[in-house]
Amino acid sequence: MNNLLYNGLPTTMIIFGASGDLTQRKLIPSLFNLFHKRRTPKQFKIFGYGGTPYTDEQFREHLYQGMKQFADYEFSDDEWNLFAADLHYLVGKYAEKDDFQKLADTLAQSEGGAANRLYYMALPPMLFPVTVENLDATHQLHESGNNWRRVVLEKPFGTDLASAVELNKQVHKALNENQIYRIDHYLGKETVQNILFTRFANTIFEPIWNRNYIDHVQITVSEKVGLEHRAKFYDSVGVLRDMFQNHLLQLLTLVAMEPPASFGASALRNEKVKVLSAIRPMSPEQVAVHTVRGQYKDYRKEEGIAANSTTPTYAAVRFYIDNWRWEGVPFYLRSGKNLAEKQTQIIIQFKEPPTTMFPMQTIRPNMLVLYLQPDEGVHLRFEAKAPDTVNETRSVDMEFHYDDAFGKSSIPEAYERLLLDALQGDASLFTRADEVETAWSLIDPILQTWDAHQTPPLASYKPGSWGPPESYDLLARDGRRWLDEEASASDK
Ligand code: BG6
Repeated sequence: MNNLLYNGLPTTMIIFGASGDLTQRKLIPSLFNLFHKRRTPKQFKIFGYGGTPYTDEQFREHLYQGMKQFADYEFSDDEWNLFAADLHYLVGKYAEKDDFQKLADTLAQSEGGAANRLYYMALPPMLFPVTVENLDATHQLHESGNNWRRVVLEKPFGTDLASAVELNKQVHKALNENQIYRIDHYLGKETVQNILFTRFANTIFEPIWNRNYIDHVQITVSEKVGLEHRAKFYDSVGVLRDMFQNHLLQLLTLVAMEPPASFGASALRNEKVKVLSAIRPMSPEQVAVHTVRGQYKDYRKEEGIAANSTTPTYAAVRFYIDNWRWEGVPFYLRSGKNLAEKQTQIIIQFKEPPTTMFPMQTIRPNMLVLYLQPDEGVHLRFEAKAPDTVNETRSVDMEFHYDDAFGKSSIPEAYERLLLDALQGDASLFTRADEVETAWSLIDPILQTWDAHQTPPLASYKPGSWGPPESYDLLARDGRRWLDEEASASDK
């Protein structure tokens, strides 16, 4: 790891919503691992803030239990005790200015002078504005001298374009954009960052990374899990808001963007916004043709789901990017719950050879598969002559697996990287206001058509399948098919 970019001042992290699931499951195991690797600032304290009436001791015990359950690495109790000594908790409400004043006083006393602050909103988005407002009203966002104030906002960022614009407006009242870190945990995944390295740390891919050589791109984020005790939340958002507006469109931007001038936050995010702006927005007629929405069978019988819910748990969308690099190349995106496998992968399908000198052969086009999870790696499929035949070809794979190349458990939790970046002030892997809004402007017309016109009809699919038959039709109409089974098979 390069030198850490800290300014030498003590740093306090304040987690709002600290008694919730995210803190126990992801934030603390990630922060502890950063501490273990000596990557947290030298003087670093964490204050949890929430409605549950914990004492410091109860909060630590709650998080310790979480570590035992969720940390995917071994840790020693001695080291935990060292870390836990700097964990504190404050009971408070989000709409109470007095509680925020109490927070301000407690922090000032604990810091005893100039210090940096990272405020983490592990909260539902409707609480962001009031929390920021109260932080501002109690002068807790003010930067002076060398210290900094940063705010991390969890997803979902809004529920549509209008609410995202409004939310940006609200938080911008008290914060500059460079103080805001909007999280999309997919960007913290090693394999997602590796998309950029595959493309731009090598010379062999870039010359063919365009409409002249690439037939189409498939991005799949399939999940085996269902609602996981989040029925109420999920039923109010559905798959497009939960997965497409953020994770899937982010993956698309990394595959499709132009090489940025640097790895810096502005350069990188400018290129991502350019791609999003070049995606063709859809009219209602186009939504009917380019999208599929599905709901798994018996979703409506799940606890907490309305008997007439039309919330989609599956979607497939064909996007086009209207620029010189990608004109005419479809990007097929799909995601769903309760599917056959957990699989996040990007398939770059190349064009067929223009002509063949091997008659009678079915030559399969080359395919580059980025396996983002599980069994992380990159595979390149190409044709080889089958030995002891005259002219038969077979598809073979060149494979890179993270486990083989870097060792088992080489991949840290996505939050670890993102928390470290937020502490160091690197916003490259966080989404900017205009990026979030541009992404919503692509999702909004789909949502509106689905809701207002009920087109295309809500398809049904069997839990454990690869989604509704309509999703196959979407590609079949283009003479293509989802390459999931094929990609998985070549792995075996
Ligand atoms: C979250 C969604 O953002 O991402 C969940 O809200 C989804 O519904 C999760 O399950 C998937 O993340 P991962 O890292 O398991 O692919």
